[in-house]
Amino acid sequence: MKIAILGNGGREHTIADLISKSPKVNKLYCLPGNAGTEFIAENIKIDINDFTKLEDFVEKFKIDLVIVGPEKPLVNGVVDFLIKKGIRVFGPNKLSSQLEGSKIFTKKICEKYKIPTARFGIFHSVQDANKYLEKVNKPVVVKADGLAAGKGVYICEDTENSKKAVNEIFNGKFGAAHQVLIEEFLEGEEMSYFVISDGKTFKKFNTAQDHKRVGEGDKGKNTGGMGAYSPSGLINKELDFKITEKIIKPTFNAIKDMGQTYMGFLYVGLMIKDNNPYLVEYNVRMGDPECQTILPLLKTDLLELILSCCEENLENQKIEWKRKKSMCIVLCSKGYPDRYKKNIEITNLEKITNNQNTFIYHAGTESVDNKIYATGGRVLNFVNISEDLKKSRQTIIEEIEKLNWTNGFYRKDIGFRIIDK
Ligand code: AMP
Ligand code: GLY
Repeated sequence: MKIAILGNGGREHTIADLISKSPKVNKLYCLPGNAGTEFIAENIKIDINDFTKLEDFVEKFKIDLVIVGPEKPLVNGVVDFLIKKGIRVFGPNKLSSQLEGSKIFTKKICEKYKIPTARFGIFHSVQDANKYLEKVNKPVVVKADGLAAGKGVYICEDTENSKKAVNEIFNGKFGAAHQVLIEEFLEGEEMSYFVISDGKTFKKFNTAQDHKRVGEGDKGKNTGGMGAYSPSGLINKELDFKITEKIIKPTFNAIKDMGQTYMGFLYVGLMIKDNNPYLVEYNVRMGDPECQTILPLLKTDLLELILSCCEENLENQKIEWKRKKSMCIVLCSKGYPDRYKKNIEITNLEKITNNQNTFIYHAGTESVDNKIYATGGRVLNFVNISEDLKKSRQTIIEEIEKLNWTNGFYRKDIGFRIIDK
């Protein structure tokens, strides 16, 4: 088969790595890919949000299957577009992708289907929002409705800051806004829960814990994710059952009630309190860096799994996992998530261990004339699999120190809630 993977992050390098090992693959393309995917696939530089160019590529290169990594093309309807052209594609359609594309869409489903989530209000003007903010308990969470690359969420300790957030959102910081979402602040511990669905059946696709804040001790600004481990230490049978019954099933039923089905990965972002799950957000794709920690634990052939979804045959497909744990620590460019320097060379990569249990996945990297440069905020994902997360973390830190990339920084405390308690 000829397969194309859309995206250029650590998530996509991970997916490409597993797909490239499947016996069914003759040729793998990454659009646009990164310096890491170049070792296992052919990178094609095209804008994946330009669907006409994408269609031209898929037809010219006779692609049998497109796998979509990031949310933006999904929310813009790449799946509907390709399917209409008769092209096989793995990922949710445009309507289903509203689960990530519009926080208000998801909240309305939660309300209608009684899905546990933070209490909320939707406001259509600065005035109405401010009136509410005067009287509501703090902290309070103010959210822009649409995609905002992880930046449209403000956790506000006081009224003044919450009003500032509302102003920024209505002033168009995240695109034209006609409404704002204001939520109660949920206490608890976060967990990322994944499922894979063919539209008829869904199956659990493991759990992970992400560290979204830039600083150690989970302090500072939100990022795309500084590191993760899998499985989450919070999961247990009873919680699993509650998540499935109270959150995932009603959500898929809601999509069905709208006359459509959900096919692809679904990332269920949860807050867990007293072993009860509350939905924080949906993402219509694998997480990044959760993907880098979850996929290396998968024993089942990923391509077979994806094909079973395309053929609505997931029910008969087993999903098997290694009985191990895994961790990923992200090496970032200094300054991230704010401004950082680009096009800084990364040397010493040949010193990094590359075996079954210790390896790296690239994120914001590009290769030019056989040299590798950092082009993004999150640059390299260091992964280790073992029986013991503390050992994994130690191994990864040694690897990062071997690289000795002076333009980079990383968190040394990934997994602290479970390792250091
Ligand atoms: P979201 O993009 O909605 O997932 O929000 C980004 C991050 O903000 C989440 O991963 C949480 O850490 C935090 N967050 C969002 N909503 C809430 C909430 N209602 N209560 C507490 N924390 C929240
Ligand atoms: N790690 C968070 C995300 O993928 O959205």
